[in-house]
Amino acid sequence: MTHGLTDTAAHDPVATGVWFAPGRVNLIGEHTDYNDGFVLPFALPQRAVVTAAPATGARSRVRSAQEAEPVEFSAVTATPGDVPGWAGYVAGTCWAFREAGHPIGEVDLELDSDVPVGAGLSSSAALECAVGVALADLAGIEPGRTELARIARRAENEFVGAPTGGMDQMASMHGRAGHLVFLDTRDDTVELVPFDLHAHGLELLVIDTRAPHAHADGEYGARRADCERAARELGLPALRDATTADLDRLDDDRIRRRARHVVTENHRVLAVVELLSTGADPRDIGPLLDASHTSMRDDFEITVPHVDVAVEAAREGGAVGARMTGGGFGGCVIALCEASGTGRVVAAVESAYAARGWTAPAVFAGTPSDGAGRLS
Ligand code: GLA
Repeated sequence: MTHGLTDTAAHDPVATGVWFAPGRVNLIGEHTDYNDGFVLPFALPQRAVVTAAPATGARSRVRSAQEAEPVEFSAVTATPGDVPGWAGYVAGTCWAFREAGHPIGEVDLELDSDVPVGAGLSSSAALECAVGVALADLAGIEPGRTELARIARRAENEFVGAPTGGMDQMASMHGRAGHLVFLDTRDDTVELVPFDLHAHGLELLVIDTRAPHAHADGEYGARRADCERAARELGLPALRDATTADLDRLDDDRIRRRARHVVTENHRVLAVVELLSTGADPRDIGPLLDASHTSMRDDFEITVPHVDVAVEAAREGGAVGARMTGGGFGGCVIALCEASGTGRVVAAVESAYAARGWTAPAVFAGTPSDGAGRLS
């Protein structure tokens, strides 16, 4: 089945309800999604929850449990530039929904979320996707998960103005409990890969470094520009098409290293998928997680001391593999650990942080969970 306007199905519009969409962690495949490459995220149990109903007033109104004041806007006419701040994710999704050819009316929305903001766990994608599934049910249509993810991404890119790829929204829409979302971003093909760590006595820790995010937006755009330049210089549609041999054709050292990260990271994603889908011991992916981190640190240069120290300490504490996850310049680290050894890993990271006078990180177990849907 293809997802798009042609497969839009109709059902009775819903009068009111509660919908959710999760944040995500990326197991591996960083900064590959805007290069037509491969990613392997999973949806988290942490989620944005939206209560929605047709508006009682003349305009739409959104209230958030995390914000002091509600915001009014028009879901029917808002265009990029009209709604600044946090409500822009909501208004942007309404705008992108209409742009995709689905008319909507004004809505009243109440938001709540336990996805940490600014931690690289896609709190914004969770919000956009939750609003997207709510709008679809209120309008009585079923655009399909990939179409809704594209609508949510368009809100992020064109309304909010963040030049991201599509991984976060696809993970939030397509997540499944106990599975990874293996996504080919060239054509948005999704394959769910079973990921049952507990059966192997393992745990995936998510370590929120709470590192201050400095210049993350500008640096993200700069990496994207470097990748596009590399593809252009190689005469390729995207870095997805580059081989290791192609890298020698790039003269500029920085551009070559950026491209090398993307080429090798795509290989690592495929290697992880191969291992996990052929029944290998998940411990075997540890070295690939480590190599991904080294590549992000040295070639793509998107890590910061808080992140590198957490990765290093996690390994010293016994993790079988660790890497930064997400866009970079702060955010979270994931550490694949023996379930019996998580205490040692956490203690090692905490003591490395304490020795530097840094705030202790927040740690939780990353459990692959279901993608967006209706709660009631
Ligand atoms: C952010 C972006 C994603 C992706 C990652 C890096 O999370 O939103 O599209 O590019 O960074 O892998």
